[in-house]
Amino acid sequence: MGDMLLSIRDLEFSYGAVQALRGVNLDVSRGSITCLMGRNGVGKTTLVGAIMGLLKSSAGIINFDGQIVTNWPAFKRARSGIGLVPQGRRIFPKLTVSENLIVGMQAAGGRTKAIPDSVVEMFPIIKTMSGRLGGDLSGGQQQQLAIARALVGMPKILLLDEPTEGIQPNIITQIGHVLRKLVQEHNMTVLLVEQYVDFVREYGDHFYIMNRGRIVANGNTDQLHAGVIQEHLSV
Ligand SMILES: Nc1ncnc2c1ncn2[C@@H]1O[C@H](COP(=O)(O)OP(=O)(O)O)[C@@H](O)[C@H]1O
Ligand SMILES: [Mg+2]
Repeated sequence: MGDMLLSIRDLEFSYGAVQALRGVNLDVSRGSITCLMGRNGVGKTTLVGAIMGLLKSSAGIINFDGQIVTNWPAFKRARSGIGLVPQGRRIFPKLTVSENLIVGMQAAGGRTKAIPDSVVEMFPIIKTMSGRLGGDLSGGQQQQLAIARALVGMPKILLLDEPTEGIQPNIITQIGHVLRKLVQEHNMTVLLVEQYVDFVREYGDHFYIMNRGRIVANGNTDQLHAGVIQEHLSV
């Protein structure tokens, strides 16, 4: 298990009477881009929330970087190196680009005092548009800012919940290149929630597919064949 940065065992979560996670098992190896796929409403965002500690699982174990974090509050998980790019980006619209990034640094416990050069290099807009209000950015720019906001906390794992949703193709490609660069040059590990199969094939190493709160398939992304897609992903 030494090469697993994140291991989830038998995880359960319910929203009242609605059980959203049913015995989920998932591993993310260090230095990989592991993709979580599945149709709308199957539990992907719930699983991400449970990993981040925004939702409290009712049973199961989450092991992150050699520690059992299952009962840790979200801020402690953030400080231990879990970074989140939430679904829908959740940029603070009334804060400037710089202020959005400061929130990201503080959320991770203020380990970084200044925006690392490597993050500016990946997303030049955080410098060129630093005084702009978050709410005035385009969808693609907001997604870049959301990723940068997570990165300034210097996470060990980056959780991204549907980062390509509603984003124009050239920005999608840029996001893919950034994820690859983070893994290859900056020791990052990525758990990517993604419904766009071509993006998973292009950038992902491993995939897991969820259906109704369970993991129903997993493997290397080169095994993501038409049959699997037809059964679990096509609408
Ligand atoms: N806040 C909530 N309260 C009640 N049910 C919820 C809530 N959020 C999500 N759900 C339900 O939990 C299930 C999983 O949702 P979600 O994790 O958002 O799925 P996905 O991200 O795969 O689209 C769905 O049936 C959804 O309706
Ligand atoms: Mg979701």
